[in-house]
Amino acid sequence: MAMTPPSAPTPPPISARASKPILTSSNYLSVASHYDRLLSEHYTWMFGGYETKLAQNRCILLRHLPATVAPDTVAVDLGCGPGFQTIPLLELGYKVVAVDASVGMLEELGDEIKTLGIDEKRVRTVEGDLLNFREQIDDGAAGCVVCMGDTPTHLASLEEVREMIRDAHAALRPHGRLILQFRDLTHPLEGTDRFVPVRSDAMTVFTCFLEWERQRDDGAAVEEDGSGARIRVHDLVHIKKGNGTWELCKSWYYKLAMSREWVGQTVKEAGFRVEYGETEHGMELVVGIKEAQ
Ligand SMILES: C[S@@+](CC[C@H](N)C(=O)[O-])C[C@H]1O[C@@H](n2cnc3c(N)ncnc32)[C@H](O)[C@@H]1O
Repeated sequence: MAMTPPSAPTPPPISARASKPILTSSNYLSVASHYDRLLSEHYTWMFGGYETKLAQNRCILLRHLPATVAPDTVAVDLGCGPGFQTIPLLELGYKVVAVDASVGMLEELGDEIKTLGIDEKRVRTVEGDLLNFREQIDDGAAGCVVCMGDTPTHLASLEEVREMIRDAHAALRPHGRLILQFRDLTHPLEGTDRFVPVRSDAMTVFTCFLEWERQRDDGAAVEEDGSGARIRVHDLVHIKKGNGTWELCKSWYYKLAMSREWVGQTVKEAGFRVEYGETEHGMELVVGIKEAQ
């Protein structure tokens, strides 16, 4: 048996290998608090249930990822939420690193993994900022990185999105794919159109109110096409109590406006070949394919 010579250097821990300083989205704390105080409890219900979202994401991922996956290929799911992409990625054969800011969302994903009887060793859930995901994986090791279900718009600025896209390029191996899915919020709604009914049933009424901030007071860039503007998203949830009265729960967070063209161009500038998916469920899909060096 080959022996390791005593002088062999010990590999540094992965966190020490990341070649950039620790960054945090300036929206991180407000997003984590918004989801854990209000949204995570209603999130899956809001979309009509877990199975509905799994079915949608299975179709999308099958369309945009290679049909066969080599054993032990790692996928990174950024802003995994309750796992609407994590579960289909596991089904496709990937091992998954699932990153999210919200404890409530990660707990729901953990429950789902148990319920489905998935081998827990194939998933690593990480409570943390998606701008720091390179601490979790060696450069050049990922088969795919996904940031879907409107997660990219949770970042605070175009600069942060650019950073995440560059990080994905560094993390991916040649031919690896980055999949970004987001709503294009560059066309402001006006007046009462800004009140958007999300879902209601006998016990819960979920309404969203959107306020566009066309000028940014923090110096972050806003492009001519509206990319970079931010939107205050107010979530208003009426919940029926046992005595028949309604309680209103409310909280808000920021989302970022980005056009499909701005995202596509930024993916290209990071060194990817770009493909555009169809607009589905009100969301844009941009795929970056890392060219072989
Ligand atoms: C709209 S949900 C999308 C969840 C899931 N991917 C889907 O398709 O439904 C956005 C998720 O991203 C997480 N998130 C937003 N900003 C984040 C950040 N900077 N770091 C980590 N997670 C973040 C939120 O906690 C939330 O679970």
